Amino acid sequence: MFKIVRREEMSGGTVVLNEIEAPLIARKAKPGQFVIIKANETGERVPLTMADTDPVKGTITLIYMVVGKSTALFKTLKVGEGYQDIIGPLGKPTHLENVGTAVCVGGGTGIAVLHPITRGLKQAGNKVISIIGARSKNILILEDQMRAVSDELHVCTDDGSYGHHGFVTEVLKTVLDKNKVGLVVGIGPVPMMKFVSKITKDYGVKTLVSLNPIMIDGTGMCGGCRVTVGGKTQFACVDGPEFDGHLVDFDELTLRLQAYCEDEKECYNNFCTLKA
Ligand code: NAD
Ligand code: FES
Repeated sequence: MFKIVRREEMSGGTVVLNEIEAPLIARKAKPGQFVIIKANETGERVPLTMADTDPVKGTITLIYMVVGKSTALFKTLKVGEGYQDIIGPLGKPTHLENVGTAVCVGGGTGIAVLHPITRGLKQAGNKVISIIGARSKNILILEDQMRAVSDELHVCTDDGSYGHHGFVTEVLKTVLDKNKVGLVVGIGPVPMMKFVSKITKDYGVKTLVSLNPIMIDGTGMCGGCRVTVGGKTQFACVDGPEFDGHLVDFDELTLRLQAYCEDEKECYNNFCTLKA
């Protein structure tokens, strides 16, 4: 069993942080990589990009939003309990290099994935400008942690309850107008990554996005995670999860992500009814 050693609820309980004992993964993992976790024998395999690792303590940190049956089940796990299986690190790590100025754009729970990459870009000697956004102030996550690894931090909320009133993409345009930027990393909802990439294409700035298609084995065998990048089929689990945002077919990804929405809703409702 992979034991939970720390558990926090964020965003009013809709987002949960688990720090988990997984020494072999913690020692090997690099920013941008993910794991696949299963709560129990019959549990669904859920891919989650690591929000942090501590090789000395031998732990990995995962931050997930409760969106369906499996994540609702994960939420019931307490400190001292754990996950039956965790495999990883999977996927390719982020290529961290000094590009001068890097801009890190995160939306919602995507900020959790962006945090170790932002820290890595800072450690690589970049000036790092970060832009993070949430629907409202009370669901914004990791503001202090992102501030600590950024030279400049801009916060946005859709409802104007904190920081800039509007989407992260609006602030991104201002930042690109004022700075010579070598790289943009955008992680969050698919529409956010799509529009970040559209904007940076106009400015001619290299852009990385982290894709989250449906995954099954996570090792390149099932084809479930296929995405089209530059007109070619790629498997996000082994060729990604990060890709050049200017080449990704975001509309196809959106369609594929909708494939099981109705079944997921039904499964979640049944789980909630059973628990009640
Ligand atoms: P959300 O829908 O509340 O959006 C968060 C922020 O993204 C918004 O505040 C806004 O600034 C920006 N945004 C959203 N739509 C936009 C648009 N059309 N144009 C420009 N900016 C836009 O996010 P949420 O409810 O926290 O959902 C998190 C999403 O992130 C889920 O869809 C989840 O699957 C995804 N996610 C992706 C990864 C990844 O690795 N790519 C990791 C974690 C979560
Ligand atoms: Fe099966 Fe990627 S998850 S090929």
